Amino acid sequence: MDLQAISKTGHFTKAFKENVEIPQAEVNKLMDFLRSSASSVNAQPWHFVVAAKQESKNRIADTLNPFNGPKVRNASICIIFCTMMDMPAGHLEKVHEKEKADGRFATDAIAAGWHEIQTSFIRFRRYDLKDLTSWMEKQTYLAAGAFAMAAAGLGIDVCMMEGFEAKLIDAAFGLREKSLGSTLLVSLGYRDEEKDFAFNLPKSRLPVEDLFTFL
Ligand SMILES: Cc1cc2nc3c(=O)[nH]c(=O)nc-3n(C[C@H](O)[C@H](O)[C@H](O)COP(=O)(O)O)c2cc1C
Repeated sequence: MDLQAISKTGHFTKAFKENVEIPQAEVNKLMDFLRSSASSVNAQPWHFVVAAKQESKNRIADTLNPFNGPKVRNASICIIFCTMMDMPAGHLEKVHEKEKADGRFATDAIAAGWHEIQTSFIRFRRYDLKDLTSWMEKQTYLAAGAFAMAAAGLGIDVCMMEGFEAKLIDAAFGLREKSLGSTLLVSLGYRDEEKDFAFNLPKSRLPVEDLFTFL
């Protein structure tokens, strides 16, 4: 991965080439990467709805404004990054059983100690800080950031979108019935350099002295 090149040109894409599909092998690599996303206490408080069929992308795009709609309609795939709106009973236990099955613990005592950390941390967010939903959504944002970087590393262009009405997306895909909420849309494909108004624009970021403190 050429980090310098990505830093200079890694703008989120404003227009995708129509009818150009990401090869399935590359999609599979990205799905593996997404599944491997890290989250605090390994909570994985998310779900990813992957729209690859045109009909599915249209269903998302139909809820969007004219600025963002084409970024979904013309993309190769669009993923709805969803977050649990509350952590369902049994979720942490399911995570923990999978950790055990995957061989994460040398002894039962280590397994039990870790599970206590998981449950007490979630209890702390829910009852003391009262921010469980917002904390879970932070995990989803982290996964999305790393995912965008992974796609760039494969030479795939991305557009991450917060510009949508959650209630429309949630209704179109029955998310609330599953106690999920839409957090972000992430479209992937290949940039249409002629249609992307931002393609030739320089990146604009605040100067180093505003953004960093070096000690
Ligand atoms: C969380 C997030 C949400 C964003 N939502 C949208 C969006 O809804 N539509 C859009 O065109 N761009 C969206 N962007 C892109 C930003 O507007 C863009 O990255 C920023 O203006 C900097 O421009 P650059 O990426 O070209 O350097 C989003 C970016 C992030 C990180």
